[in-house]
Amino acid sequence: MPSSTIQVHDKSFEVFISKEKIHERIAELAEQISKDYAGLNPLFIGILNGSFIFASDLFRALSIDAEISFIKLASYKGTSSSGNVITAIGMDENIYQRHIIITEDIVDTGKTMVTFLPELLQRNPASVKIASFLSKPEARQHKIEPDYIGFEIPNKFVVGYGLDYDRLGRNLPDLYIISSNSPEGEV
Ligand code: IMP
Repeated sequence: MPSSTIQVHDKSFEVFISKEKIHERIAELAEQISKDYAGLNPLFIGILNGSFIFASDLFRALSIDAEISFIKLASYKGTSSSGNVITAIGMDENIYQRHIIITEDIVDTGKTMVTFLPELLQRNPASVKIASFLSKPEARQHKIEPDYIGFEIPNKFVVGYGLDYDRLGRNLPDLYIISSNSPEGEV
């Protein structure tokens, strides 16, 4: 059993979803995706850093031909008319007429995906879907709904299984949620 309470920087976290539950759910997602994309050779685009563990576990559980590539998104403030701009670093695959599955660690406000999707669509892929390990529906500020969701969780901060709190916690095999007695503060 993992230690049920852990400390990451100044905050304490409790086990929320065990690694066994995570792996069971990923097997289900992989089975569904393998059915939906049979014969289509989808291209998974993993968003670094947070999705590297989810993307690799999901990818290994597929039973169909598929490809994978990773990119990093850097956001900066554009001109006042364009708002926030996102550049995709390492987006060197030709995605024209390809079936794309974006893999994300978590869709929270939806801002990252709502900013990145138009850039991807400009390159005329055959289709684009989002597979997100986690989704926080209560936090959503943009009209984005992942097509494949590992777990819907409450609007609380989580770490582990690739997700970090100020760079730490990504290597925890289970998913931890901030303890109710931990100061929420700025995370
Ligand atoms: P967005 O608000 O949907 O744009 O989410 C952007 C990013 O915030 C995600 O890809 C995560 O890297 C990060 N994030 C959101 N919620 C959490 C959390 O609870 N723990 C760790 N990272 C988070």
